[in-house]
Amino acid sequence: MATALIILGAGMGTRMNSDMPKVLHEIACAPMLVHAMKSGAALDPKRTVIVAGHGAAQVEKAAKAFDPDLVLAIQSEQLGTAHAVSQARDALDGFAGDVLVLYGDTPFIRPETLAAMSAARVTHDVVVLGFEAADPGRYGRLIMKDDQLDRIVEFKDASDEERAVTLCNSGVIAAQSKTLFELIDAVSNDNAAGEYYLTDIIGIARHRRLTATVVRCDEAETLGINSRGELAEAEALFQARARSDAQSDGVTLTAPNTVFFAHDTVVGRDTVIEPNVVFGPGVTIESGATIRAFSHLEGCHVSRGAVIGPYARLRPGAELAENVKIGNFVEVKNAQVAEGAKVNHLSYIGDAAVGARSNIGAGTITCNYDGVFKHKTTIGEDVFIGSNTMLVAPVTVGDGAMTGSGSVVTKDVPPGDLAVARAKQENKAGFAVRLFEKLKARKAKGS
Ligand code: UD1
Ligand code: CA
Repeated sequence: MATALIILGAGMGTRMNSDMPKVLHEIACAPMLVHAMKSGAALDPKRTVIVAGHGAAQVEKAAKAFDPDLVLAIQSEQLGTAHAVSQARDALDGFAGDVLVLYGDTPFIRPETLAAMSAARVTHDVVVLGFEAADPGRYGRLIMKDDQLDRIVEFKDASDEERAVTLCNSGVIAAQSKTLFELIDAVSNDNAAGEYYLTDIIGIARHRRLTATVVRCDEAETLGINSRGELAEAEALFQARARSDAQSDGVTLTAPNTVFFAHDTVVGRDTVIEPNVVFGPGVTIESGATIRAFSHLEGCHVSRGAVIGPYARLRPGAELAENVKIGNFVEVKNAQVAEGAKVNHLSYIGDAAVGARSNIGAGTITCNYDGVFKHKTTIGEDVFIGSNTMLVAPVTVGDGAMTGSGSVVTKDVPPGDLAVARAKQENKAGFAVRLFEKLKARKAKGS
């Protein structure tokens, strides 16, 4: 059955104490909303509707960066979860398949769990995702009757007996589009919170002789984020899982707890990641690479056999070919470094291409920015760039060329040439001795 997603994210998230909408706070470098969208993507949704209210423009921008086709529905007043879902009605006009409701602040639902819900939909009109709560707290309680889900009671409205139930509502609900909106039309706000509860659709459905059931998942999957503390816990959970997944995929982590992955980091087999490495978004590392301690990587591609760091910084657009070496205190941005090239010490390589087997001496800088525009540096194959060369872009150094250390290179260097662009050295005989004596004498006089 074709599926559409409705992701609720209009709530203010008061407890985050933030100017930013709650669902945009990040876990592993992606807004929690994007994590929910990624879970939902497992069902190959035909349409995705995000219900936003507080900071809707910001929410739209962040969500569309991940899925440009999604539709935003605005809930300008937060009157409850059923009211929120009903805001998606127009966006789903003409859609006859199943609708799955997710929360934008619940980032860890597994694709397998959503697949189980889809499967349960074949035999039941409404499917709710539930979990056995260690501490059921203020969650809605799932009240079973025989083998059916009979109703959901919100904590505020529950009797003592109902509060004793430990099977809780995650908030995730699936039903056929027409059924869902018909049920929502019947929801009132006659309850302790004065809200339109989405959870009321179960009681209404049963009353109408429709069937309802619960798919159960682990409590960790339904973890919702309401505060900065919970955001940090969610980050920790994500990282724990990402580290263990990397290890299962054949990646060596010398000190796993000190490595931080982004939501989309891809690392190949037999790569070694040393302690204290941080991945920003958009990193792919092929098999058999080594990422040495204290390196930071973002938006880059590292090929097989490359060695990065220690203390390296790879920024967006760094494309490193096989067996490249990037050493300590080297920053690479928007640059292609070809096979076997080496940039081993204290350099900045930005907006550049470095040819195969070239060696970039310590302290070399591609001066890419003139204060207004960025310019490109092109370095050929088998080039030797002397230490502390300033390559003032735009500039090209041809294949097999060299630069003398300390050169400020402003003109292209033809292939095979040596460019020396620095002041000529002059030695003044005995001058140092005389100067030292003069200075020491002045110190002795106390002046
Ligand atoms: C809801 C459920 C509860 C469940 C719990 C799980 C209802 C009535 N209750 O309670 O059974 O155990 O989630 O976490 O559904 N939202 C809107 N617009 C609104 C109200 C909420 O978009 O008008 C969004 C929020 O941004 C959030 C989600 O819906 O992403 C859940 O809302 P929240 O107020 O946190 O629901 P709970 O009271 O926690
Ligand atoms: Ca909540």
